Amino acid sequence: MERQRIALANQELLHGGDYNPEQWLDRPDILKEDIRMMKKAGVNVATLGVFSWSVLEPQEGDYHLEWLKDIMDRLYENGIRTILATPSGAKPAWLDEKYPEALRTDERGQRRHHGVRHNHCMTSPDFRRKVREINVRLAEHFGKHPGLILWHISNELGGACFCPLCRKKFQEYLSDKFHGDIETLNQAWWTTFWSHRYQRFDQIEPPFANGENSIMGLNLEWKRFTTWNMTDYMKSEIEVFRSLTPQIPVTTNFMKLYPGLDYRRMAKELDVISWDSYPRYHNDYESLYDTCIENAFDHSVMRGMCKDRPFLLMESVPGAVNWHEFNKQKRPGMHKLAAVQAIACGSDSVQYFQWRKSRGSFEQYHGAVVDHLGRDDTRIFREVEQTGQILKKLQPVTKSIVRAQAAILFDWDNRWAIDDMKGLSQQKKQYEKTCLSFYRILARLGVEADIISRRDDMGGYGAVFAPMMYLIEEDTAERLRAYVRGGGQLFATYLAGYVDQNTLCYLGGFPGAGLKELFGAYSEEVDTLYPSDRNGIRFADGSIGEVRDFAEVLRVQDAEILGTYTDDYYAGGAAVTRKKCGNNGGAAWYTGARLDDKAMEKLIARALTEAGIPVSEIPQEVEYHCRENGEYRYHFWLNYGKERVKIPQVSGEDFLAGSCPAQENFVEPMDVRIFLERKNTGKAAGSGMAAIPEMEVMG
Ligand code: GLA
Ligand code: ZN
Repeated sequence: MERQRIALANQELLHGGDYNPEQWLDRPDILKEDIRMMKKAGVNVATLGVFSWSVLEPQEGDYHLEWLKDIMDRLYENGIRTILATPSGAKPAWLDEKYPEALRTDERGQRRHHGVRHNHCMTSPDFRRKVREINVRLAEHFGKHPGLILWHISNELGGACFCPLCRKKFQEYLSDKFHGDIETLNQAWWTTFWSHRYQRFDQIEPPFANGENSIMGLNLEWKRFTTWNMTDYMKSEIEVFRSLTPQIPVTTNFMKLYPGLDYRRMAKELDVISWDSYPRYHNDYESLYDTCIENAFDHSVMRGMCKDRPFLLMESVPGAVNWHEFNKQKRPGMHKLAAVQAIACGSDSVQYFQWRKSRGSFEQYHGAVVDHLGRDDTRIFREVEQTGQILKKLQPVTKSIVRAQAAILFDWDNRWAIDDMKGLSQQKKQYEKTCLSFYRILARLGVEADIISRRDDMGGYGAVFAPMMYLIEEDTAERLRAYVRGGGQLFATYLAGYVDQNTLCYLGGFPGAGLKELFGAYSEEVDTLYPSDRNGIRFADGSIGEVRDFAEVLRVQDAEILGTYTDDYYAGGAAVTRKKCGNNGGAAWYTGARLDDKAMEKLIARALTEAGIPVSEIPQEVEYHCRENGEYRYHFWLNYGKERVKIPQVSGEDFLAGSCPAQENFVEPMDVRIFLERKNTGKAAGSGMAAIPEMEVMG
């Protein structure tokens, strides 16, 4: 059972970011200036305490919290609330000196030296104790501070530790998981291969880079263990706050689709989901729309972890970061678009790393609201200020949510298993990119998609898309069957159901776990194409889609064949199938090959139409979202293109301009329009989406 989440008590959208006054304690003039400038920029929240340990506790047990209290007080007096971070993201020198076990060990078994950040062993009892001690101090001192709204656990938890303590914990975890029976593990991991059988759990090592990394089951279980152990560590931090400050919610900041940890497992322990977004805007390899729609996908992954409430954008950069290959400045207007995009996708905040640039060290050239110039009339400051004004206007949007009609299954377990599988083409597997391409197609069709896990409830969605769902266990297969029996459109692709939860291949045909009956077809072979190879799929209407990378040769039992291959030794063979199931209109669709976007879009549109989900055509370079609460719908239109774009007739008020929409409505290049529509008013237009002319879909 999921724990009841504590809601964030925000009545308005949050605007602010990481603030490190501890770097400026000898400059009261600057600290004073910060508050003046924050107010000018419309900042109402600051994240304090990230990486402050050596100032909070300069010597073991010698706590200095007064400066933090002073800053929090002053912020609060000026209408700025605090998100308070625990300092465990970086350790003071005394800690590593006295407790060397707190240092992380890398994948070659080498203990790291003191320094940098995110360099701790999450098992180490010493480290956990030291973190607990300072967290108790923070909770006691600040738990009742009227400015405190949220605890921020550590910072960007990540990585893995291969030290002896972690290794032992891994062995215990395995023994638990396999009920103390090493034979069950040997069977599940197929260890007789290459003579890798174990006699005892304490023989098992983590998959060292220079050790045993050839057992797929072991590799996958290590990733699961690392998530489990990191979550266990995170819980050890959270416990303090749950017991001492039960009224204050807890978050930690996620990093995009960080591959090292299954965020969905961690999310269950958090009240608020938050993340750090740093797209490579204005790059030279894709359109701005493509960069931004990927960011929308990432936002949607976060939203998928807290569907009943908004998430937070915890960090973003107002100008340029310092760690991309090329650190390009956000162009004028980009900042506003990115900020509104976050809100449109379901965030209740726009926050920055960082408020003020540090003078020295690693991130001295990382973008910030306040530059080394120290002025409040820079382009970037003005754009932040403008964003502050927009967010103020958008305040009623707070706590409204995005409701999606379709879902895409995207799983960490599955991506780990796919990445690690030895087959196909390592270069071209591109699981994340494939899920993103489904999201982009749905967005172009005006359909909002949640990104959920195969373990999540699929009940509310008319259509569920499962690209490359390589790993499927029996109970997931049963839930997929139930979903289709209940009337859902399940849309799967090549690589479905090859392996079980331990990465053992299913026997008797893929997709396994009884799914070949659901799809009425199975894959006899999978072909990998060289980058210059092409095949095609011919559909009933005579159109031909282009095939790249992967093509499964399908054997059809009792499904309809919607498309067949045009070339090669499997020309004429089934490539796309559909099997209807029961009397509820449910169907299982299967696309055996990687199709070009246009052809895939047509297929997806068909499945959506079967699901009763209206499809439309969103103008090129434009992104659309809708947030709603009991009373209103907020329609967001964002234009990333260079042309002024006409958008469909909408009812309601132009939210930013405060006026009625005209006969024809446009979004200017690099601009946004937001329309406010009252629900159930009996007025004609209904939802903004229904008002978009529907696209012709082939039946
Ligand atoms: C991450 C970290 C921040 C900072 C930024 C730089 O998001 O959480 O401390 O290093 O990256 O982009
Ligand atoms: Zn360790």
